[in-house]
Amino acid sequence: MKIKISPSLLASDFSNLEREVRRVTEAGADSIHLDVMDGRFVPNITFGPAVIKSFRAKTDLPLIGHLMIEQPELLVRDFAEAGCDMIQVHAEASVHLHRTIQQIKECGVAAGVAINPSTPLCAVENVLGEIEELLIMTVNPGFGGQEFIQSMLPKIAAARKMAEKAGIELDISVDGGVNLDTCRLVVEAGANVLVAGSFVFTNGVGSAIAELRARCGNG
Ligand code: DX5
Ligand code: ZN
Repeated sequence: MKIKISPSLLASDFSNLEREVRRVTEAGADSIHLDVMDGRFVPNITFGPAVIKSFRAKTDLPLIGHLMIEQPELLVRDFAEAGCDMIQVHAEASVHLHRTIQQIKECGVAAGVAINPSTPLCAVENVLGEIEELLIMTVNPGFGGQEFIQSMLPKIAAARKMAEKAGIELDISVDGGVNLDTCRLVVEAGANVLVAGSFVFTNGVGSAIAELRARCGNG
């Protein structure tokens, strides 16, 4: 499976998002990860659809909206219209998760589901066939620069097994604390999409992406 690198703009310079979006695009990222926080589901606030819309035209890369917000179903359409190519909602944040996934698809964009470190895989088992990507949090969501939670590795492996057993070709992404030490571990466990914020933006973006690819194989 091709390993995809998805830099998170959370660690970028918010005062010049156009430049940051261009930087990750020129550096050969596979997509751009957008951390949307509402100050309720997580104790932090970032940006919403209007900001995403403002830089949508600056890149051809897929924009992945990671919605760390309560009741994401109320805003799915706004994020799709802002230009997100995939919308990822938290299983913990949407009571009728299956319906929310259908709403995302009705907007004509890809659907993903994210789960917190404390959420068991069984929370998504019954929707696995409905989504394009499962995002496994390897930190508690809300902030960049946190330490990778090692005990999530078996969960990644179990998710890959679950998908294979069901005959589903699923992208499994890992978000939080991804760096040169941890990237290899998550890929070996079965993840194929690496979200990285701090590591990418504190290590020169282009060289950081190249180093991650070299460490994990590009295959
Ligand atoms: C955390 C976010 C992550 C975060 C990752 O709530 O979902 O995407 O930006 O940042 P690093 O790579 O710094 O752990
Ligand atoms: Zn994220």
